[in-house]
Amino acid sequence: EIEVASKHIGNKIYHFESIDSTNTIAKKLATEGAIEGTIIIAEEQSGARGRLGRNWVSPNGTGIWMSMILRPNIEPMEATKITQITAAAVALAIKKVTGCDVGIKWPNDIIINKKKVCGILTEMSAELNCVNYIIVGIGINVNMNLLDFPEEIRPIATSIKSCVGESVSRKKIVTEILHKFEELYLDFVVHKNIEKSMNICKKYSVTLGNQVKIKNRNKEIIAQAIDLTEDGQLLIKNELGEIEKVLSGEVSVRGL
Ligand code: BTN
Repeated sequence: EIEVASKHIGNKIYHFESIDSTNTIAKKLATEGAIEGTIIIAEEQSGARGRLGRNWVSPNGTGIWMSMILRPNIEPMEATKITQITAAAVALAIKKVTGCDVGIKWPNDIIINKKKVCGILTEMSAELNCVNYIIVGIGINVNMNLLDFPEEIRPIATSIKSCVGESVSRKKIVTEILHKFEELYLDFVVHKNIEKSMNICKKYSVTLGNQVKIKNRNKEIIAQAIDLTEDGQLLIKNELGEIEKVLSGEVSVRGL
Protein backbone atom coordinates (compact mmCIF):
# COMPACT_ATOMS: atom_id res chain seq x y z
CA GLU A 1 0.00 0.00 0.00
CA ILE A 2 1.23 3.45 -0.87
CA GLU A 3 0.19 6.43 1.18
CA VAL A 4 0.59 9.67 -0.67
CA ALA A 5 0.96 13.16 0.65
CA SER A 6 0.18 14.53 -2.80
CA LYS A 7 -3.52 15.25 -3.35
CA HIS A 8 -3.83 15.39 -7.09
CA ILE A 9 -1.14 13.09 -8.44
CA GLY A 10 -1.89 9.63 -7.02
CA ASN A 11 -5.56 10.34 -6.37
CA LYS A 12 -6.19 6.90 -7.83
CA ILE A 13 -3.58 4.15 -7.68
CA TYR A 14 -3.63 0.82 -9.50
CA HIS A 15 -1.12 -1.70 -8.23
CA PHE A 16 -0.32 -4.82 -10.27
CA GLU A 17 1.80 -7.82 -9.36
CA SER A 18 2.75 -8.47 -12.96
CA ILE A 19 1.81 -6.69 -16.15
CA ASP A 20 3.26 -6.31 -19.63
CA SER A 21 3.83 -2.55 -19.40
CA THR A 22 2.44 0.09 -17.04
CA ASN A 23 2.50 2.59 -19.94
CA THR A 24 0.35 0.30 -22.07
CA ILE A 25 -2.24 -0.24 -19.34
CA ALA A 26 -2.16 3.49 -18.56
CA LYS A 27 -3.01 4.24 -22.20
CA LYS A 28 -5.90 1.80 -22.06
CA LEU A 29 -7.22 3.33 -18.84
CA ALA A 30 -6.80 6.85 -20.23
CA THR A 31 -8.75 5.89 -23.34
CA GLU A 32 -11.50 4.59 -21.06
CA GLY A 33 -11.60 7.97 -19.31
CA ALA A 34 -9.30 7.59 -16.27
CA ILE A 35 -8.83 10.91 -14.48
CA GLU A 36 -5.67 13.00 -14.35
CA GLY A 37 -3.42 11.92 -11.52
CA THR A 38 -4.14 8.20 -11.92
CA ILE A 39 -1.03 6.13 -11.18
CA ILE A 40 -0.26 2.60 -12.32
CA ILE A 41 2.48 0.71 -10.48
CA ALA A 42 3.69 -2.84 -11.10
CA GLU A 43 5.99 -5.14 -9.17
CA GLU A 44 7.12 -6.68 -12.43
CA GLN A 45 6.75 -5.95 -16.15
CA SER A 46 7.06 -8.59 -18.84
CA GLY A 47 7.06 -6.31 -21.88
CA ALA A 48 8.24 -2.93 -20.63
CA ARG A 49 9.09 -0.41 -23.28
CA GLY A 50 11.90 2.11 -23.41
CA ARG A 51 12.54 4.98 -25.78
CA LEU A 52 13.37 4.44 -29.43
CA GLY A 53 11.75 1.02 -29.53
CA ARG A 54 14.04 -0.45 -26.90
CA ASN A 55 12.89 -2.70 -24.10
CA TRP A 56 13.31 -2.05 -20.39
CA VAL A 57 14.40 -4.66 -17.88
CA SER A 58 11.89 -4.75 -15.00
CA PRO A 59 12.49 -7.70 -12.66
CA ASN A 60 10.10 -8.52 -9.83
CA GLY A 61 10.06 -6.33 -6.75
CA THR A 62 13.37 -4.59 -7.32
CA GLY A 63 12.44 -1.37 -9.03
CA ILE A 64 9.87 1.35 -9.41
CA TRP A 65 7.89 0.67 -12.56
CA MET A 66 5.15 3.22 -12.79
CA SER A 67 3.09 5.42 -15.09
CA MET A 68 1.06 8.56 -14.50
CA ILE A 69 -1.95 9.69 -16.51
CA LEU A 70 -1.99 13.46 -17.14
CA ARG A 71 -4.49 15.63 -18.99
CA PRO A 72 -2.84 19.03 -19.20
CA ASN A 73 -4.44 21.76 -21.24
CA ILE A 74 -1.32 22.37 -23.34
CA GLU A 75 -0.24 22.14 -26.94
CA PRO A 76 1.36 18.89 -28.12
CA MET A 77 4.58 20.82 -28.75
CA GLU A 78 4.87 21.40 -25.02
CA ALA A 79 5.01 17.73 -24.07
CA THR A 80 8.82 17.90 -23.69
CA LYS A 81 8.22 20.15 -20.73
CA ILE A 82 6.39 17.35 -18.96
CA THR A 83 9.43 15.13 -19.39
CA GLN A 84 11.67 17.85 -17.96
CA ILE A 85 9.36 18.36 -14.99
CA THR A 86 9.41 14.61 -14.36
CA ALA A 87 13.20 14.40 -14.58
CA ALA A 88 13.47 17.27 -12.09
CA ALA A 89 11.03 15.62 -9.66
CA VAL A 90 12.73 12.22 -9.87
CA ALA A 91 16.22 13.67 -9.43
CA LEU A 92 15.17 15.68 -6.37
CA ALA A 93 13.33 12.71 -4.86
CA ILE A 94 16.25 10.29 -5.25
CA LYS A 95 18.63 12.91 -3.88
CA LYS A 96 16.42 13.63 -0.88
CA VAL A 97 15.65 10.03 0.09
CA THR A 98 19.09 8.51 -0.58
CA GLY A 99 21.61 11.34 -0.62
CA CYS A 100 23.05 9.90 -3.85
CA ASP A 101 24.65 12.29 -6.28
CA VAL A 102 22.23 12.35 -9.16
CA GLY A 103 22.64 13.80 -12.62
CA ILE A 104 20.12 14.47 -15.36
CA LYS A 105 21.12 13.49 -18.85
CA TRP A 106 18.97 15.52 -21.22
CA PRO A 107 16.22 14.87 -22.05
CA ASN A 108 15.14 12.07 -19.78
CA ASP A 109 17.70 9.89 -18.06
CA ILE A 110 18.74 10.05 -14.43
CA ILE A 111 22.36 9.13 -13.86
CA ILE A 112 24.35 8.03 -10.81
CA ASN A 113 28.11 7.51 -11.07
CA LYS A 114 27.92 8.03 -14.84
CA LYS A 115 25.45 5.16 -15.24
CA LYS A 116 21.73 5.12 -15.91
CA VAL A 117 19.51 4.56 -12.89
CA CYS A 118 16.21 5.80 -14.32
CA GLY A 119 14.54 6.30 -17.67
CA ILE A 120 11.41 8.23 -18.53
CA LEU A 121 9.08 7.40 -21.41
CA THR A 122 6.55 10.11 -22.24
CA GLU A 123 3.77 9.15 -24.63
CA MET A 124 1.00 11.38 -25.86
CA SER A 125 -2.38 11.21 -27.53
CA ALA A 126 -3.35 14.45 -29.24
CA GLU A 127 -5.67 15.66 -31.95
CA LEU A 128 -6.33 19.04 -33.54
CA ASN A 129 -3.43 20.57 -31.65
CA CYS A 130 -4.98 19.58 -28.32
CA VAL A 131 -3.52 17.08 -25.89
CA ASN A 132 -5.96 14.35 -25.04
CA TYR A 133 -3.73 12.66 -22.50
CA ILE A 134 -0.06 12.21 -21.68
CA ILE A 135 1.37 9.08 -20.12
CA VAL A 136 4.62 9.50 -18.22
CA GLY A 137 6.36 6.19 -17.57
CA ILE A 138 9.11 6.12 -14.98
CA GLY A 139 11.47 3.18 -14.53
CA ILE A 140 13.92 3.31 -11.63
CA ASN A 141 16.44 0.61 -10.79
CA VAL A 142 16.17 0.64 -7.00
CA ASN A 143 17.27 -2.58 -5.33
CA MET A 144 18.94 -4.39 -8.18
CA ASN A 145 22.36 -5.95 -8.01
CA LEU A 146 24.65 -5.66 -10.99
CA LEU A 147 23.97 -9.31 -11.88
CA ASP A 148 20.24 -8.62 -12.15
CA PHE A 149 20.94 -6.65 -15.33
CA PRO A 150 21.49 -8.44 -18.63
CA GLU A 151 25.18 -8.62 -19.38
CA GLU A 152 25.09 -6.20 -22.28
CA ILE A 153 23.72 -3.32 -20.20
CA ARG A 154 25.90 -3.86 -17.09
CA PRO A 155 28.50 -1.34 -18.25
CA ILE A 156 25.88 1.40 -18.54
CA ALA A 157 23.28 0.57 -15.87
CA THR A 158 23.25 1.01 -12.12
CA SER A 159 20.83 0.94 -9.19
CA ILE A 160 20.19 3.04 -6.13
CA LYS A 161 21.26 0.07 -4.00
CA SER A 162 24.68 0.09 -5.69
CA CYS A 163 25.07 3.73 -4.67
CA VAL A 164 23.76 3.47 -1.10
CA GLY A 165 25.22 0.05 -0.31
CA GLU A 166 21.97 -1.39 1.00
CA SER A 167 18.33 -1.79 0.00
CA VAL A 168 16.22 1.35 -0.05
CA SER A 169 12.45 1.71 0.48
CA ARG A 170 10.74 2.01 -2.90
CA LYS A 171 7.69 3.40 -1.14
CA LYS A 172 9.63 6.36 0.25
CA ILE A 173 10.97 7.21 -3.19
CA VAL A 174 7.57 6.89 -4.90
CA THR A 175 5.92 9.09 -2.26
CA GLU A 176 8.60 11.73 -2.66
CA ILE A 177 8.41 11.67 -6.47
CA LEU A 178 4.63 12.15 -6.44
CA HIS A 179 4.97 14.97 -3.94
CA LYS A 180 7.67 16.81 -5.90
CA PHE A 181 6.05 16.13 -9.25
CA GLU A 182 2.72 17.49 -8.06
CA GLU A 183 4.30 20.76 -6.97
CA LEU A 184 6.27 21.27 -10.19
CA TYR A 185 3.47 20.06 -12.46
CA LEU A 186 0.83 22.33 -10.89
CA ASP A 187 3.25 25.25 -11.19
CA PHE A 188 3.26 24.53 -14.89
CA VAL A 189 -0.39 23.81 -15.63
CA VAL A 190 -1.90 26.31 -13.21
CA HIS A 191 0.65 29.14 -13.32
CA LYS A 192 2.28 28.36 -16.69
CA ASN A 193 5.59 28.41 -14.85
CA ILE A 194 8.35 25.84 -15.37
CA GLU A 195 11.21 28.00 -14.25
CA LYS A 196 11.75 26.02 -11.06
CA SER A 197 11.80 22.71 -12.97
CA MET A 198 14.18 24.07 -15.60
CA ASN A 199 16.50 25.41 -12.90
CA ILE A 200 16.63 21.96 -11.31
CA CYS A 201 17.28 20.39 -14.73
CA LYS A 202 20.14 22.81 -15.29
CA LYS A 203 21.56 22.42 -11.81
CA TYR A 204 21.76 18.62 -12.07
CA SER A 205 22.54 18.45 -15.79
CA VAL A 206 25.42 16.21 -16.82
CA THR A 207 24.88 17.30 -20.42
CA LEU A 208 25.49 21.03 -20.31
CA GLY A 209 29.06 22.11 -20.88
CA ASN A 210 29.93 18.78 -22.47
CA GLN A 211 30.33 17.50 -25.96
CA VAL A 212 27.29 15.63 -27.19
CA LYS A 213 26.65 13.31 -30.07
CA ILE A 214 23.22 13.77 -31.56
CA LYS A 215 21.64 11.14 -33.73
CA ASN A 216 18.52 12.20 -35.50
CA ARG A 217 17.10 10.53 -38.59
CA ASN A 218 20.37 8.81 -39.52
CA LYS A 219 22.24 12.07 -39.17
CA GLU A 220 24.90 12.24 -36.51
CA ILE A 221 26.53 15.42 -35.32
CA ILE A 222 29.01 16.29 -32.59
CA ALA A 223 28.33 19.52 -30.79
CA GLN A 224 28.80 21.40 -27.56
CA ALA A 225 25.79 21.46 -25.22
CA ILE A 226 25.38 25.08 -24.21
CA ASP A 227 22.11 25.58 -22.37
CA LEU A 228 18.50 24.52 -21.89
CA THR A 229 15.84 26.86 -23.21
CA GLU A 230 13.03 27.93 -20.95
CA ASP A 231 10.79 25.39 -22.62
CA GLY A 232 13.09 22.44 -22.14
CA GLN A 233 14.93 22.25 -25.42
CA LEU A 234 18.69 21.78 -25.68
CA LEU A 235 20.84 24.51 -27.21
CA ILE A 236 23.95 23.28 -28.92
CA LYS A 237 26.84 24.89 -30.74
CA ASN A 238 27.64 22.92 -33.89
CA GLU A 239 31.01 22.47 -35.63
CA LEU A 240 30.47 25.70 -37.54
CA GLY A 241 29.96 27.59 -34.31
CA GLU A 242 26.27 28.07 -34.96
CA ILE A 243 23.72 27.77 -32.18
CA GLU A 244 20.97 25.23 -32.81
CA LYS A 245 17.98 23.98 -30.88
CA VAL A 246 17.51 20.27 -30.37
CA LEU A 247 14.00 19.08 -29.63
CA SER A 248 14.52 15.38 -29.15
CA GLY A 249 16.52 12.64 -30.70
CA GLU A 250 19.30 10.57 -29.36
CA VAL A 251 21.79 12.52 -27.36
CA SER A 252 24.83 10.90 -25.84
CA VAL A 253 27.24 12.77 -23.65
CA ARG A 254 30.86 11.95 -24.30
CA GLY A 255 32.28 9.71 -21.63
CA LEU A 256 28.88 8.80 -20.25
C1 BTN B 1 14.06 4.79 -21.49
O1 BTN B 1 15.01 5.26 -20.88
O2 BTN B 1 14.23 4.26 -22.60
C2 BTN B 1 12.70 4.90 -20.87
C3 BTN B 1 12.39 3.73 -19.97
C4 BTN B 1 11.01 3.80 -19.37
C5 BTN B 1 10.65 2.58 -18.56
C6 BTN B 1 9.37 2.74 -17.81
S1 BTN B 1 9.09 1.47 -16.61
C7 BTN B 1 7.45 2.00 -16.38
C8 BTN B 1 6.92 2.40 -17.74
N1 BTN B 1 6.33 1.27 -18.45
C9 BTN B 1 7.00 0.98 -19.57
O3 BTN B 1 6.71 0.05 -20.36
N2 BTN B 1 8.05 1.82 -19.71
C10 BTN B 1 8.10 2.80 -18.64
